[in-house]
Amino acid sequence: MNYTAILPAAGSGRRMKAGKNKLLLELSGKPVFIHTLEVFEQDPACEAVWLAVKQEERDVIESEIRRLGLKKVAGFADGGTERQDSVRACLEVIPECEVVLVHDAARPFVSQEVITRLAEAAQEQGAAIAGVRVKDTIKKEKEGFVSETIDRESLWMIQTPQAFRYGLLLEAVKSAAEQGFLGTDEAMLAERIGQRVQIVESSYENIKITTPDDLIHGKAILASRQQEEEK
Ligand code: CTP
Ligand code: MG
Repeated sequence: MNYTAILPAAGSGRRMKAGKNKLLLELSGKPVFIHTLEVFEQDPACEAVWLAVKQEERDVIESEIRRLGLKKVAGFADGGTERQDSVRACLEVIPECEVVLVHDAARPFVSQEVITRLAEAAQEQGAAIAGVRVKDTIKKEKEGFVSETIDRESLWMIQTPQAFRYGLLLEAVKSAAEQGFLGTDEAMLAERIGQRVQIVESSYENIKITTPDDLIHGKAILASRQQEEEK
């Protein structure tokens, strides 16, 4: 199933404490966002990639893309205050298509196989999101004490990519904007207009580079993949 990818890349990376957008930090010789873009570059089902970027970072991002000869980036939109605004800005400029896949530029280890399953599920069901089962026991707290232990069987940690039929995502995003609703992911916006969202099991490697320890984890993931290739 062919799709258009939207990559929000306009954050500040505050939790990384690097003094600049974490996506520009190098991970084994390449900026984080380039690792992410390369996954889509290599996926024949990806028709185009649109990036939401901060105006002042557009030149450096664009020149890196050009230098590496990446062909799939079709255009840019100005990122907004919230991630949701950045996604909306992209959605407003992309040409109409069948399936849109939203993916954090800060998740460079997403697998092609998961992307394929998400795009297919979105075409069939309308909406599909990547997630992994919760490994730890999860408890609710009240005033320092456990108030409840939640049944882990039904709990998932949700990631991106999140894939949608184009018209559905447009409606969900517009409705949220009109009513001032701020969600933590695109699926929430689809859920609130009554859409059923399918969960596609992803991998624990699909981490979001968020805090400094994620860079160490990220390097280890790349090193183990390299070793696998050399076998
Ligand atoms: N993002 C965006 N526009 C925003 C905020 C975030 O496009 N206004 C993007 C980030 O660049 C990132 C993805 O959304 O690729 C996930 O966001 P997050 O991991 O929270 O990144 P930051 O917001 O940059 O980090 P922090 O929250 O630590 O400041
Ligand atoms: Mg953020």
